[in-house]
Amino acid sequence: MKGAQAWRLGSMGDMQILPGSRHRPPLKRPIWIISLVSLVCLFLVCAYIYPPQGSAACYVFSSRGCKVLTNWLPPSPTRELSDEEIASQVVIRDILSNPPVQSKNPKIAFMFLTPSSLPFEKLWDMFFRGHEGKFSVYVHASKGKPVHVSRYFLNRDIRSDEVVWGKISMVDAEKRLLAHALQDTDNQHFVLLSESCVPLHNFDYIYNYLMHANMSFVDCFLDPGPHGNGRYSEHMLPEVEKKDFRKGAQWFSMRRQHALIVMADSLYYSRFRDYCKPGFDGKNCIADEHYLPTFFNMIDPGGIANWSVTHVDWSERKWHPKSYKAQDVTEDLLNNITSIDLSIHVTSEAKSERLVQPCLWNGIKRPCYLFARKFYPETVDKLMTLLNF
Ligand SMILES: *[C@@H]1O[C@H](CO)[C@@H](O)[C@H](O)[C@H]1NC(C)=O
Ligand SMILES: *[C@@H]1O[C@H](CO)[C@@H](O)[C@H](O)[C@H]1NC(C)=O
Ligand SMILES: *[C@@H]1O[C@H](CO)[C@@H](O)[C@H](O)[C@H]1NC(C)=O
Repeated sequence: MKGAQAWRLGSMGDMQILPGSRHRPPLKRPIWIISLVSLVCLFLVCAYIYPPQGSAACYVFSSRGCKVLTNWLPPSPTRELSDEEIASQVVIRDILSNPPVQSKNPKIAFMFLTPSSLPFEKLWDMFFRGHEGKFSVYVHASKGKPVHVSRYFLNRDIRSDEVVWGKISMVDAEKRLLAHALQDTDNQHFVLLSESCVPLHNFDYIYNYLMHANMSFVDCFLDPGPHGNGRYSEHMLPEVEKKDFRKGAQWFSMRRQHALIVMADSLYYSRFRDYCKPGFDGKNCIADEHYLPTFFNMIDPGGIANWSVTHVDWSERKWHPKSYKAQDVTEDLLNNITSIDLSIHVTSEAKSERLVQPCLWNGIKRPCYLFARKFYPETVDKLMTLLNF
């Protein structure tokens, strides 16, 4: 009796010093087992939802790596792909994994998207002169047959169609230009330009910059604001999820492989054709600002630079970018644009964010821009004097 009492007091003393230690009244066995089983179940559910990827996580499970564990876990829950998605992805992957036909005479395709005549043909003529055989020109004039003044543009009009701002017809015109330019297997890089674009460097500089780049220059960034992801429509599900939706300027420059996958895609294209247009679903989605950035972000994110080689000045934060008049065109302005080596994106939230990235060309920081817009036609003579290729 006395001994037992002493033990009890002793144990109470222990408990005060080491709360919850070995002298706690033993749990009844069933509760102990239920707790253990619940813990194991919780662990398995976690392992299933967050499959171990890091090496540290693998070490916890097995010193032989992740294989052992992932082999006996059920496959991670992924959506079953539709026939169309499987077909689309298999074609795209094959194109990306096979280098395109190597040309002995690689050319750059300059593709002009314009309503009609090109105000800077004289300037482009000076730019192209002496480089015959290293470029080809394509003109898509959506409003009327252009009058050409340069021999490099004569007979280079392709069959065109109407282009409505914001609608898929803009993307259709881009695809029409790509399709025409792809017919020439010497074309290895494809640049989309507008009638108000001008080159900032001489031909050799631009040719080498594009031809030796290991990526395409497709503008792409995540804008969580109303003019970015706010334009996304859930009608695009299941193929295009909101987390994949991106924004970017339409003025791309792409490698032949990338031009081919744009031709090969009809699935993702059709989602933007049907569900990304002004006024649809109460949103103002602009197909040409979202289709290619989203498509490349989903299909080959590491293959694009995420900035456009065509400079435009949005710093006034109006509906339209700054258009340069003759008085704006100075050596100072051109030097400023050609020395920019950071790509800046501004999101459209009330409290907007500035996303700044160095322009990395094959891993090296270089100036970002080869072309610039928008210039009024009146600037042509001044530009020709200043650029003097
Ligand atoms: C472009 O962005 C994607 C996704 O944000 C990224 O994976 C890729 O590395 C970026 N490209 C370059 C050249 O930095
Ligand atoms: C060029 O950049 C300098 C330095 O940032 C600035 O002071 C100047 O106003 C810029 N000139 C033009 C024409 O944009
Ligand atoms: C391009 O080259 C750089 C430097 O070698 C490399 O870091 C990068 O991954 C390459 N990108 C692609 C798409 O091959």
